[in-house]
Amino acid sequence: MKNKISDVSIQINSFEINNILQLEAFRIQFLGSKSEIKNLFGELKTVPNEDKKSIGKELNDLRIQAEEKYAEHKEKLENNTTSKEAIDYSKPGENFSVGSHHPISLVRREIIEIFNRIGFVVSEGPEIEDDWHNFSALNFPPEHPARDMQDTFFIEKGENEMALRTHTSSVQVRVMENQKPPIRTISPGRVYRNEAISARAHCFFHQVEGLYIDKNVSFADLKQTLLYFAKEMFGEKAQIRLRPSYFPFTEPSAEVDVSCSICNAKGCNVCKYTGWLEILGCGMVDPNVLEAAGIDSKTYTGYAFGMGIERITQLKYKVNDLRLYSENDVRFLKQFTPSI
Ligand code: DAH
Repeated sequence: MKNKISDVSIQINSFEINNILQLEAFRIQFLGSKSEIKNLFGELKTVPNEDKKSIGKELNDLRIQAEEKYAEHKEKLENNTTSKEAIDYSKPGENFSVGSHHPISLVRREIIEIFNRIGFVVSEGPEIEDDWHNFSALNFPPEHPARDMQDTFFIEKGENEMALRTHTSSVQVRVMENQKPPIRTISPGRVYRNEAISARAHCFFHQVEGLYIDKNVSFADLKQTLLYFAKEMFGEKAQIRLRPSYFPFTEPSAEVDVSCSICNAKGCNVCKYTGWLEILGCGMVDPNVLEAAGIDSKTYTGYAFGMGIERITQLKYKVNDLRLYSENDVRFLKQFTPSI
């Protein structure tokens, strides 16, 4: 009997328990109703009376040894979930969501690519501008009502006037000051205006400015470049029309409409049944602007244009509320996820 007890004790000690299945096997072997320890208790009645007490104690100790080992491993395994739930390698993988580019970024990139193909290079300028680059060098005289065309967020008033730029035309001044013609550049960027936020107006938005300065640049060059842009952006069938307009920095100036791609220029509620949609402002760079930037206006001429990226995006993706672009609603943004 003593030998059997020490055999079982050795078995208990050497039994390996690394997972829940082994734990259960241990329980059945040493603590279940048909376990070896139970059997030994059954055999106790065959032990001579004088030994019963000491053998009984040894058996009790044996049972406690098994119970303690069981409890200790059970606790360990329950705190360790990975070994509790064996990994199922046949399970489908977890989905992870792919991010997407913002529609403004997609359209900005497309505009840049279209103009890159005809030799325009990207240039950038600061979003906090001085009065010279945002207004004066662009032929906005001081106190002239033209300044009211664009409500400005001022950072500093007075002599060192600084403001958030109201348009990317400020970048054309910086480029002309720093480069010699021929100049062929586009300047994408964010601009700011002191406007009440609504579906049709926002206090910040994005523009792309275009500038071409060389000898003998004509209005016909401008028209052809914009027609090329409209066809690349909106499809081969796109047409443009120019309406006379006014900007302080161009003379003559025009506003450009593109034929409505939503109704094929037949008339719909987006184009207000005119068949045309306004997309940009443009004109021949005013000689005053060339001179202010140090370019000889007798030798050089040039054209400039400026368009709102939100406006082009609205026409491309039929987004009618400007606020959607900056609300970060994933349901809106997800629609621009590229399919993979
Ligand atoms: N800067 C003008 C605006 O923000 C847009 C513009 C019009 C830019 C005519 C130009 C231009 O370069 O020639 O409304």
